[in-house]
Amino acid sequence: MLYDLIIRDARVIDGSDTPEFRADVAIRDGRIQRIGHLDGVSASEEFNAAGRVLAPGFIDVHTHDDTVVIRKPQMLPKITQGVTTVIVGNCGISASPVTLAAAPPDPMNLLGPAEAFSYPRFSDYVAAVDNARPAVNVAALVGHTALRSNHLNDLFRTALPDEISAMRQQLRESLVSGALGLSTGLAYASAFSADTDEIKQLAEELTAFGAVYTTHLRSEFEPVLEAMDEAFAIGRHSKSPVVISHLKCAGAGNWGRSPQLLAKLEAAALDHPVGCDCYPYAASSSTLDLKQVTDAFRITITWSTQHPDQGGRDLKEIAAGWDVSLMDAARMLQPAGAVYYGMNEADVQRILQHPLSMIGSDGLPEDPFPHPRLWGAFPRVLGHYSRDKRLFPLHTAVHKMTGLTASRFGLHERGFIREGYWADLVLFDPQTVRDVAEFTAPQRPAEGIDAVWVNGHLSYTDGQPQGERQGRFLPRSGSLVAGFG
Ligand code: ZN
Ligand code: CU
Repeated sequence: MLYDLIIRDARVIDGSDTPEFRADVAIRDGRIQRIGHLDGVSASEEFNAAGRVLAPGFIDVHTHDDTVVIRKPQMLPKITQGVTTVIVGNCGISASPVTLAAAPPDPMNLLGPAEAFSYPRFSDYVAAVDNARPAVNVAALVGHTALRSNHLNDLFRTALPDEISAMRQQLRESLVSGALGLSTGLAYASAFSADTDEIKQLAEELTAFGAVYTTHLRSEFEPVLEAMDEAFAIGRHSKSPVVISHLKCAGAGNWGRSPQLLAKLEAAALDHPVGCDCYPYAASSSTLDLKQVTDAFRITITWSTQHPDQGGRDLKEIAAGWDVSLMDAARMLQPAGAVYYGMNEADVQRILQHPLSMIGSDGLPEDPFPHPRLWGAFPRVLGHYSRDKRLFPLHTAVHKMTGLTASRFGLHERGFIREGYWADLVLFDPQTVRDVAEFTAPQRPAEGIDAVWVNGHLSYTDGQPQGERQGRFLPRSGSLVAGFG
């Protein structure tokens, strides 16, 4: 047989933000070999797309799947959405390189308990992923907070010169072993004390590799524009592309400012490669942060070590039940996780629509009662925002989760349906695709995702995982600086 597989009669959306075309797609040795009308051409297997949409497998640009790809390698929350690659290590927290002296500091605890961190070198993590062989491909950033936790005995101060050189050394080794770049989570107390200069010095390691700098900004509240300036200054200093994580206007006092944020992003993009990711919800989720406790909007608890039975409940109800203030209830729940209903829908839509934004879930796979973005982010963009709200055409939605992301992160031969590229593919029904996960029932697979192929192998169809898991570790494949305009 000439080919391993032909997917016939598909509406192909190829990831490049151009309209669909009708074609058959032939695959051999894990790669797309031919795209066209392949009547009379044979293959060992055929799959009838029956006029549904065939797109590149989605790339989840913003995840905290670092340890779950190893511990629960089926990756059901992602493969059921059509995701075929996850980027881990966001928001300054990564599973490697990490050597813990005690319990993981907040927010590294989002990645699991101390036992989950057993990768002192980045290369140990690469080996563990390849060994676990998750259902999806994995590419990884190195977290600034992770580096700090390795070398600082006190996270609430700026690093000293010898600590900075130790962190630089670890970052350099990780980049040599295939890390995509550096992430920070400067809003979190465990990194907030790092001054701009500390990060600039670390980012200097990115220059030689042409690697990316991603950042959960120092503030997403009132000082968000200043925080964006800081991110761009760091990127310009190290000549690194900058990706702002989950760009948003957080907090009621900040609503309606998305045009200002986007204008700043566009201005920076004139002379430097910058972009952002976002998730398609007006509620955020992280560890329960006392600084964010407010009665201006709803807050629900996703987990609590002291009071596990309160997961899924409103902070307000918990406080009333205990007859204490919101703040006291939050203190009593610590350590804990929360969903904050702290965004304005118009801002969310404006950011989603912007040509510089990519789609990431920011899902938290360890949470017993997670934000629904973990299971629903990608079908929600395709169904709710593209089809139902008509925010953008379907091919633009696909581009924001495939080609744009692969280009921004240098994921070589991924993110597009092109001859010679890896056959990471998703087949979905544009009429029925939708997110089913809700805040009250967050762990539910999407509808309308009909088949998913990873590296050329059918990995999900009929609502079930298929065959052997086919994901790989994807090392950084070259400098991002050239060709990133
Ligand atoms: Zn974050
Ligand atoms: Cu994050």
